[in-house]
Amino acid sequence: MTHVYCLGIAVLDVVYGCPDIPNAATKYKADSIETVTGGGATNAAIAIAKLGGSATLAARLGDDPQGAAIRSDLAQNGVNIEQLQLTKGAQSSSSSIIVDQLGERQIINFRGANLTEKTDWLSLPGSTKSVLADTRWPDGMAHALELAKEAGIPGIVDVDTPLDACDLSDASHLAFARRALSELTGTDTLEDGLRRAADQLCAWVCVTDGSEGCYYFENNTLHHIPALKVDVKDTLGAGDVWHGAFALKLAEGASEPEACQFANTAAALKCTQKGVAKGMPDRATVDRMMKEIIR
Ligand SMILES: Nc1ncnc2c1ncn2[C@@H]1O[C@H](COP(=O)(O)OP(=O)(O)OP(=O)(O)O)[C@@H](O)[C@H]1O
Ligand SMILES: [Mg+2]
Repeated sequence: MTHVYCLGIAVLDVVYGCPDIPNAATKYKADSIETVTGGGATNAAIAIAKLGGSATLAARLGDDPQGAAIRSDLAQNGVNIEQLQLTKGAQSSSSSIIVDQLGERQIINFRGANLTEKTDWLSLPGSTKSVLADTRWPDGMAHALELAKEAGIPGIVDVDTPLDACDLSDASHLAFARRALSELTGTDTLEDGLRRAADQLCAWVCVTDGSEGCYYFENNTLHHIPALKVDVKDTLGAGDVWHGAFALKLAEGASEPEACQFANTAAALKCTQKGVAKGMPDRATVDRMMKEIIR
């Protein structure tokens, strides 16, 4: 199994289904409740495990019930949890999410408190073939990218806002969310944005753009890989599946355009199912769909 080292935020999401989004200081009744783990790198690690790769998640937790629930959920989903760093007396990150009948969401996020600032415990298993980081723990991300560079393997960042305090200089591959590319480069034009980002950061660059698919910049040219046309049920977590699939395919030795196509396919299949981890596709389903696209 090809191994990917993922680093970033791990959150416990408590999702309440409510008739309407609350807007007053009173009591509301929920019709359903579900507790799931979330966070960019966390979801990506689960996606990699579902796609037949092996994934370690490096993230910071508190020694609280939320942290324990995150650990156990990740282990159940086949993610290696040896690099989850528990800090005594710290609080894990968690969110309370309210979803109404129309699928609109209200999210209250607690970022965690007193989580370790140290990064010296980060270490890549010898079999690691790529590193994927989100931008929610900037110091950890910078250290993991340094380790990837030293090991001579791809160091990929799922670049999303906010970007302050993020040092992307050791990354080999930057996959931007559209808003993050605009924020970093000061332009809404994808071609200009990608060109500026590639020049500024000396990395391979691409941007994901929801139902439009993704765009990458190679040989001074903008290339587009359209999204698959699918029956969309739930796009939550599609970006995280995209990044996990991209990091796994690169780790397996594929070219960047091949990895983008694979990632578009995995992310589109996720959109056809409800739920984040629950809706992630397995490898056989993605490979079957890829064959149909190539045919
Ligand atoms: N409606 C859709 N139909 C088909 N594919 C989609 C759709 N929405 C997203 N995707 C796929 O998922 C990829 C990532 O989506 P997007 O660009 O929205 O990620 P993101 O900005 O990181 O969002 P998030 O992290 O909130 O999921 C897209 O490049 C595309 O391949
Ligand atoms: Mg994203």
